[in-house]
Amino acid sequence: MRTIAVLNQKGGVGKTTSAVNTAAALAAAGRRVVVIDFDPQAHMTIHLGVEPTAVQAGAYEVLTESAGFESSLMLVRPNLWLLAANINLVGAETELVNVVGREIILREAMQGCRDKFDFCLIDCAPSLGLLSLNALAAAEEVLIPLQPHFLALQGFGKLLQTVDLVNKRINPRLKVTGVLLCMHDTRASLSNEVRADIEGFLDAARGTNSAWDGAVVLPAFIRRNIKLAEAPSYGKTIFEYDPACNGAEDYRKVGNFFLGISDEPEAPPEPEQSQAEPQVETQPQAEMSSASVPIEIREVPQPDGKIETPVHDEPTEPAQTQPQAEPQASVEETPAGAPIEIREVHVPAPTRTEPSAVTPEPPAILPEYPADSSGV
Ligand SMILES: Nc1ncnc2c1ncn2[C@@H]1O[C@H](COP(=O)(O)OP(=O)(O)OP(=O)(O)O)[C@@H](O)[C@H]1O
Ligand SMILES: [Mg+2]
Repeated sequence: MRTIAVLNQKGGVGKTTSAVNTAAALAAAGRRVVVIDFDPQAHMTIHLGVEPTAVQAGAYEVLTESAGFESSLMLVRPNLWLLAANINLVGAETELVNVVGREIILREAMQGCRDKFDFCLIDCAPSLGLLSLNALAAAEEVLIPLQPHFLALQGFGKLLQTVDLVNKRINPRLKVTGVLLCMHDTRASLSNEVRADIEGFLDAARGTNSAWDGAVVLPAFIRRNIKLAEAPSYGKTIFEYDPACNGAEDYRKVGNFFLGISDEPEAPPEPEQSQAEPQVETQPQAEMSSASVPIEIREVPQPDGKIETPVHDEPTEPAQTQPQAEPQASVEETPAGAPIEIREVHVPAPTRTEPSAVTPEPPAILPEYPADSSGV
């Protein structure tokens, strides 16, 4: 299982939107995916159509060890399980303050089921507190959603240093996989300047021993799209709410990135191409290898037997309440039908530059824990 912490201590940058919709894309591609709502705001839980007050066993109960990890998972879509959040999570940090090993509770709770799933995405709160430390201790990868505005890089160094510190003291497997640009406006020079700044920063870290020396700016980025802002209030993923919109297209590409699939470089439309593909805005493809093998992503009818659970009625109100008693399925027919079919091809290697000799010096803010190399 690849465990990915979706982390940025800045608020409102697209963490929850990215975690939910990337997970949905991976689940639609047939991978078994767990999502963990590690934010007391419970936005991921709500986004997936679960009412937080109805959650009886979730992230809080797992952290306080009053419930097991696997038994607390709710099946919310085909191939997609949720460890939900509720308001109790607010108190977790203070309740655990005297607990020895409090940073690694989630990691230990997940140990028994790591081979049962393909991906786990953890939606972190906008802080670098105990909840985020638990996420970083349990993960091998960090995905940093970032909104490319003029304060975007403020705090970015601190975030990377925190990841590096966890890497060195608690979890040596932890690496920053990449930065996902959200609400990106390719026409705005500021967005492009921020992107170039981050790429330069990450390039300068190549060959260093830092936790981000292999990080890239993801070739896929998320355009500003009102559908992405509307979908949570209906308790739907973007693929359920509007599978043809730009937001769905963009998150399919993020899913493909994690599947190691390269997306088809966008070329000017040719007259003879009359495919039924929805048209999307032109995107810069600077990171795409010219040798990339194109793939086809299209809506297809779902084969029999793929959906493991029955379909429930589509919610019509925001944040529909769902009973907790048994695994839930909130599968719904999307207007366009069903999951995506994705044919896999190789992924191009990210462009590398000369290594820098600079190794970051993280601040000493965390307690020492023995490094866990037990496969977490
Ligand atoms: N690409 C986008 N285009 C338009 N709106 C977006 C986009 N991505 C996210 N949003 C909206 O922006 C707001 C913030 O997004 P989101 O909740 O994903 O951020 P977050 O980083 O999880 O926030 P928090 O730090 O509070 O947890 C939400 O209302 C969301 O619906
Ligand atoms: Mg959030």
